[in-house]
Amino acid sequence: MKKSNNKRGFFITIEGGDGVGKTTHCDLLSESLRKADFEVVNVREPGGTLIGEQIREIVKNNYTPSAITELLLFEAARSELIHKVITPAIYNKKIIIADRFMDSTVAYQGYGRGIPLDNINILNKISTNNITPDLSILLNSPVSISLERSIIRDSIKDNNGTRFENEPIKFHNKVNKGFLKIAESNLDRWKIINSNREISIVAEDIFNSVISVLDIKN
Ligand code: TMP
Repeated sequence: MKKSNNKRGFFITIEGGDGVGKTTHCDLLSESLRKADFEVVNVREPGGTLIGEQIREIVKNNYTPSAITELLLFEAARSELIHKVITPAIYNKKIIIADRFMDSTVAYQGYGRGIPLDNINILNKISTNNITPDLSILLNSPVSISLERSIIRDSIKDNNGTRFENEPIKFHNKVNKGFLKIAESNLDRWKIINSNREISIVAEDIFNSVISVLDIKN
């Protein structure tokens, strides 16, 4: 996928509960890949488009929508991102690194809120236009540790609501278990990485996982 020998786009998603370090590791991974001369596009969900960023404001602020409204907002943001950013980037043979994608909806709205998974899978197919990641990385860390980190971070930034972080620990445990179920049921696509370690060690693990899959698929 270096400029000289890229054959196809490559779509990576980084997933996990609140505060596991996704955003940090998306940044570190893109930096390492760029240094290795790959062309990288970073996106986040919800967000990455004009409408997506507006939806992000709505879903993260402290007004609580109904569970179905919340689900449809995430799906709408995803559809916009797929059509406006991800599909063109794949077509242009870029590496796309997404900070969350469709599996977050299965984990949060499905396992967390209890919306039937079959319904979510149908909506995910529609919003993604059937595009699935080539590689998904689950950053896994005990909920008690990651949640605390996330609350401190978001209250310092003070530009995001903490509606999800303020959900009871029971909700976050369900989300975490959901992510593990999703990943363990499809280890062809997923790598599960313990993110409760030194940032540099986790970053190296992620980079090596990406390079090994890129080598196979390209
Ligand atoms: P974050 O980007 O800072 O992680 O915030 C996004 C929040 O939205 C996070 O708490 C997880 C939640 N979320 C869902 O509940 N469902 C989804 O489909 C996505 C993409 C995010």
